[in-house]
Amino acid sequence: MSESKRIGIMTTGGDCSGLNTVIQRVICGAAVRGWTVIGIRDGTDGLYATPVQASELTPESVPLAAARLSGSILGNGRAGVMNFEAAAKIGKLDEFNKKLHDSLISLNLDTLVLVGGNGSLSLAWRFKEIYAGVKLVCIPKTIDMDVPLTDATVGFNTAVQQLTTYCDQLLMTARSHHRWFVVQAMGRDCGKLALEAGIATGAAVILMPEIKFNMDKVVERIKNAETDYGIIMVSEGISLRGHSGRAADMISRQLTAAGIANRPEFPEHLMRSGDTTATDRILATTMADCALCAIENNETYVMTAMQNGVCKTITLAEFFSTGDVVADPHISGLMTSNAYVSPDDPLLQVAVDMGTYIGEMKD
Ligand code: F6P
Repeated sequence: MSESKRIGIMTTGGDCSGLNTVIQRVICGAAVRGWTVIGIRDGTDGLYATPVQASELTPESVPLAAARLSGSILGNGRAGVMNFEAAAKIGKLDEFNKKLHDSLISLNLDTLVLVGGNGSLSLAWRFKEIYAGVKLVCIPKTIDMDVPLTDATVGFNTAVQQLTTYCDQLLMTARSHHRWFVVQAMGRDCGKLALEAGIATGAAVILMPEIKFNMDKVVERIKNAETDYGIIMVSEGISLRGHSGRAADMISRQLTAAGIANRPEFPEHLMRSGDTTATDRILATTMADCALCAIENNETYVMTAMQNGVCKTITLAEFFSTGDVVADPHISGLMTSNAYVSPDDPLLQVAVDMGTYIGEMKD
């Protein structure tokens, strides 16, 4: 048995499927090592609350059968309460951060396992004072796949499955009504979810923020389609010059104007829910195990990452020195590191070869 430790775990940012698997595997791995696990409720809401919302987790806290369920038994936070952005808006960020820090210290933790996405990791890097005196090990989770330096994030595979199933089922009614469905995928500025689910369901068109598209070519592709029904997958982050509104609505209006029968569809948070796929369960388990090893090795300010099939830790410094970094408009000095669909992504050519219009690819 290794040196006794007291570790914390919290889930921050948007939920996704696979969080409970991570929590359950961390608890079980810690129990084997004789460590204590403290679960913080509702992410930073729990740390900001008085008294701090946290309690000990044991293997009974998340029975194996519940580990596959979506959401997080710890919660991810409530909309409308104090958070980084709200505190920045009223000039109380220092106060907010100090409260989070004091709460963490009061929990007497060796290490905090932060299960978060791009935003949470960026905030942890920007406001290191929150974690002073506590080691930090992060596990990346997001359906957006916008975290650099990892080939996989917890929740993405389930989101692809959810969106694919949704489209597969829509196709039946599409066929009956000789109609197209313009399905809006989540993903913020990253088109990876739209790309993968679009290919999986056999979409005729996939539009992503990373690739400029020509609306006339979209219309042409649909008018020349071998069927009079199908799926047009659009990522929520696309824009159409001279038009505003939601992505699927914008494209739907253009298709209607061109005489193509269609409906916009918004599967929304269904993409973040659904029983965790086996692939995500394995990923969550592997990353939880890697995080526990990092804690054993006294690592800090690291993130678990899958690279070429191997799970390892990378430093958050590496995370922020690689790839595109964009400034957050709401919080001074906050840089968000974004990963996008790379022009070299082999799936782009796969989509083209399938006859899918994905925009104007550069040669
Ligand atoms: O980052 C995850 C995500 O689901 C995005 O894909 C989406 O744009 C956003 O969160 C939705 O956030 P909310 O749940 O606050 O509506």
